[in-house]
Amino acid sequence: MPTRVRKAVFPVAGLGTRLLPATKSIPKEMVTIVDRPLIQYAVDEAREAGIEELIFVTGRGKSAIVDYFDQAFELEATLKGKGKSLDVLEPSNAKFGEVVTVRQQQPLGLGHAVWCARHIVGDEPFAVLLPDELMLGKPNCLAQMVEAYERVGGNLVAALEVPDSETHKYGVIDPGATDGPLTEIRGMVEKPAPGTAPSNLMLPGRYILQPSAMRALDAQEKGAGGEIQLTDAMAKLIGNEPFHAYRFDGERYDCGSAAGFVIANIAVALQREDVGPAVREFVAGA
Ligand code: G1P
Repeated sequence: MPTRVRKAVFPVAGLGTRLLPATKSIPKEMVTIVDRPLIQYAVDEAREAGIEELIFVTGRGKSAIVDYFDQAFELEATLKGKGKSLDVLEPSNAKFGEVVTVRQQQPLGLGHAVWCARHIVGDEPFAVLLPDELMLGKPNCLAQMVEAYERVGGNLVAALEVPDSETHKYGVIDPGATDGPLTEIRGMVEKPAPGTAPSNLMLPGRYILQPSAMRALDAQEKGAGGEIQLTDAMAKLIGNEPFHAYRFDGERYDCGSAAGFVIANIAVALQREDVGPAVREFVAGA
């Protein structure tokens, strides 16, 4: 049985320039999908998958994320005084010691952000979730991956098909043998030049990695865009330990862009019992 995945790293230091001006004074992770900030969805996904420690790699101007998961005594007292339920706050209240933060002081890339959490992760497997990517499914994406990981161990990344015209925007895998939702990985490349991608299977930002990934990141080598890329560090592990792609059964929404955010809002709203009917009526008539 592989070592259980207890810790998850959330890289949340990015500037969110594609969502300006909204992200001028609030982190993009705090922009809402219906009535919850984006980060809540990734945290819910991690918790449901059995994660016990949430490691936020933050940066300047990102304190609102950490405050959000704190207990709001004044707010709770006010709501109580008015006889209102506190249930709505429940998912935002971290358990004692559940949230740990570390700063990425310079924007040196996703690989660098993950590496900044190396002392907190220590010598055990860990998950990485990119909160921009909203993944909806039952069980959720990371939970499906954890279930597969418990069978095959090693390293596991979610993978999804995209049109060939989009592969240059993502990390892309070179797939080997496939067994159900699992595909062996022969290689991977970050943001391949158009027409050069080894497949159209992209990495949508869910990873289960062994501590060896942190050691691979120690080299701090720069890759695509002059940044330290997580994809490059993972590529070094292939051949040394099992490395699989997991074809997630569910929906993915790229909330890094304005259109993706709006689409995600509609998709989530339509699934909700409370706001769903009104939104469905509006969309049908639009
Ligand atoms: C990052 C990763 C890339 C992944 C993508 C998913 O890229 O480096 O491998 O496919 O997230 O959104 P970024 O979007 O930060 O350029």
